[in-house]
Amino acid sequence: MKSTRSVLVDDNQALRGSGDDEGLHFAIIMDGNGRWAAARKMPRAFGHKAGVDALRGVVEAAPKMGIKTLSIYAFSTENWRRPSEEVDSLFNLLRQFVKSDLARLHKNNVKIRIQGQRQGLATDILKLIDDAEVLTKNNNALTLVICLNYGGQSEIVEATKAIAEDVQSGKLAINQIDMACFEDYLLSKDWPNPDLIIRTAGEKRLSNFLLWQSAYSEFAFTEVLWPDFDANCLQTMVSEYSKRQRRFGSV
Ligand code: IPE
Ligand code: IPE
Ligand code: MG
Repeated sequence: MKSTRSVLVDDNQALRGSGDDEGLHFAIIMDGNGRWAAARKMPRAFGHKAGVDALRGVVEAAPKMGIKTLSIYAFSTENWRRPSEEVDSLFNLLRQFVKSDLARLHKNNVKIRIQGQRQGLATDILKLIDDAEVLTKNNNALTLVICLNYGGQSEIVEATKAIAEDVQSGKLAINQIDMACFEDYLLSKDWPNPDLIIRTAGEKRLSNFLLWQSAYSEFAFTEVLWPDFDANCLQTMVSEYSKRQRRFGSV
């Protein structure tokens, strides 16, 4: 069941945000690896590798800044359109990352969760991520949500199909379908909606990231290319977020 930190419609149909005892949820569109590599006259894969190093720093720093959930956009459903060598290099980096970093992440009490379509992922990747989720399931310093083969539109379509199936089989009545019910069918049902969505590298678009979940998120954009994004950049984002006034439609 989704946590109540997200904007929910309560019994009185009044929109509200709930208390912040669960800590912050930051979501990051890690963009600019290719440009970072190009600036160094290096292949794109070099930028992706540097991007993983940046991720390590951010994951380590996040819990110390009150961030309890960190969602990272690692591979979109549209990223399959890239040349196959680049796709291969991205998945190889993921393999390496899980193998080299899992023990340390577990020791640091990080819970790993994967958010995305399983269909299309290689069997060994599925096993790696399943094992990582099982190993870290009781950790609670930080939930690291790796959005892998993730697309917000397909997530909504899949949720709709699952709801239709439950209605057809009699498990769910049409009048039970409300926003809270719908959220229970989304891949993100176990964690709050993001408080802040960060995009690096100067682009100002969602690129199919967290379409439903971003309804009341704050946004922050930076020109910094992802491989250069460090703990200081994250701290700047936390300060920026703390200045925002969230209203959820109220006054
Ligand atoms: C983000 O960097 C990494 C992924 C999308 C996986 P890009 O590879 O998109 O870098 P740019 O946008 O080409 O610089
Ligand atoms: C979004 O970045 C996807 C990830 C960061 C994984 P892209 O670089 O793929 O987005 P577009 O194509 O510029 O919109
Ligand atoms: Mg990009």
